[in-house]
Amino acid sequence: MKLYKLINFIEKYFGYVFFKNYNIFSYNLFDFFLKKKLSKKAKKNFLNSFLEKGYTKIDLNASEFAKKLNISIGNQEIQPNEKMSYYYDISEETKSLIRDFIKNNVNNYLGEVKDYFNNNVFVTNVILKRNFYSEEAEKTELYNNFYHNDAYVFTHFKLFVNLMDMSEDTGPTHVYSIAETKEIIKKSNSYKRNNLLDDSSINGIKPYKHMGKKGECFFCFTSQCLHKAGIPHKENIRDYLVITFCSYPNKSNDLFHYENEYSDQIWNGNSQLSTKLAKPYGYKKLLTLYKSFANH
Ligand SMILES: [Fe+2]
Repeated sequence: MKLYKLINFIEKYFGYVFFKNYNIFSYNLFDFFLKKKLSKKAKKNFLNSFLEKGYTKIDLNASEFAKKLNISIGNQEIQPNEKMSYYYDISEETKSLIRDFIKNNVNNYLGEVKDYFNNNVFVTNVILKRNFYSEEAEKTELYNNFYHNDAYVFTHFKLFVNLMDMSEDTGPTHVYSIAETKEIIKKSNSYKRNNLLDDSSINGIKPYKHMGKKGECFFCFTSQCLHKAGIPHKENIRDYLVITFCSYPNKSNDLFHYENEYSDQIWNGNSQLSTKLAKPYGYKKLLTLYKSFANH
């Protein structure tokens, strides 16, 4: 076995054994010590429940924003790709709608997160997407439809925004709290993500399903909470927006500081910028990142 494969295996396996989630061991260790370090900080309501549960629905009426967004992406020819999804083209007008929404409506929440981490927060990725029904998704992972934890440190978090009225039929995001995640993984027999973990096998612990009216939003530390994309029922679709944020020791106050250099990665792009800010590769980088948060 190659060394990196062995390390990967140990990282996953120890994460599962010691921390009871599907994130890797060293990131869990980072989170454990950083949370301890920051635990004495005064936290307000939103942040308290966000940190405690790992996810929280927010009291923000974004229905007007969602309506405007629907209009700005309304004229596209929509064809599912091989993974039964469609990534919307994001025009300059759409970008500025999203930028304004974050700066004007989400900023209060981000302010609490900034205070907690003692560091600024940056937008690292914006996904504007439609998922389609797929029979195959029952058995195959097409669009993150198996329960998993994202592999990042917990300075990385996401905001999910529904762009339509959501019910069980339209395949909402499913999430378990940090405590529920632990309890479920403790009972599971696998150290990595798989399709064996389904809602019926999870001993009656019910996930939070992000349903309700268009514009409903929730924040989630996806590295800590077990989560998956729901599968829309036949003849149904799901339109949604996911904004990824990372706190990072950079003095710039601009949420979109990285947009000049990483525009292609941010707008329906890839995870390259999230990786740069919250997925340190190697223990030396992890320690450096930890110190920059802990010694602030
Ligand atoms: Fe995920």
